Amino acid sequence: MRIIKAEDYYSMSRMAANIISAQIIMKPRCVLGLATGSTPLGIYSQLIEWYKKGDLDFSEVTSINLDEYKGLSGDNDQSYRYFMNTNFFDYINILKENTYVPNGLEEDSEKACREYNQIILQSGGVDLQLLGLGNNGHIGFNEPGEAFEKETHCVKLAESTVKANARFFADESLVPKEAYTMGIKSIMQAKKIVIVVNGEGKADIVKQAFFGPVTPKIPASVLQLHNDVTLVGDQEALKYIEGL
Ligand code: GLP
Repeated sequence: MRIIKAEDYYSMSRMAANIISAQIIMKPRCVLGLATGSTPLGIYSQLIEWYKKGDLDFSEVTSINLDEYKGLSGDNDQSYRYFMNTNFFDYINILKENTYVPNGLEEDSEKACREYNQIILQSGGVDLQLLGLGNNGHIGFNEPGEAFEKETHCVKLAESTVKANARFFADESLVPKEAYTMGIKSIMQAKKIVIVVNGEGKADIVKQAFFGPVTPKIPASVLQLHNDVTLVGDQEALKYIEGL
């Protein structure tokens, strides 16, 4: 695993955005696995800025997002489809029909997941997967204790995740309790992985996930087994990692 220590959130975002833009420049028709959450927001702003300057072209890019709340439509401002449109896709020249997010409105979980796995397969696989890190070590919505071998599936969100994500909703009771997420198996099939972390609140879980044992109790720990992972973190999130 390559670890890049950035001074602050802005510089973490720029470094991760640099890796993503290199991917797009080297392979314009690439498949990006994208993530939501507050951590990648700075990356998306940076990529938008470079696009506006004429340095990046997304016209041939396909994007496949990690996850979506079950029960929310793409018009709901808390859905991950809405997040991606309003924080990224609406400002760049990616073709909307080439952007994929699991269908939160599909009530039949088995069908929703099967269709999403099909989309990943037909895309030819993810070239670069961007990840954030949940406070309990989750990636996508793969909560602690989930089997490593799963592809897209429906999950019951951990209480701590519902609480952590309640900050985006008017009330905690409005946070959906289930989500569709790419599984660990799908994530591990990406050719390259970039995981971004910032803030002191993530310092402890960063140490456990990347310098402790590989265990389903900390889903992100499985990334230690992938052969092309770059961890980009700010000083605070990497404060327990020695020798950087
Ligand atoms: C959510 C998302 C994850 C994300 C995590 C951390 O649960 N499903 O993909 O990584 O939140 O979010 P944040 O970046 O806001 O800390």
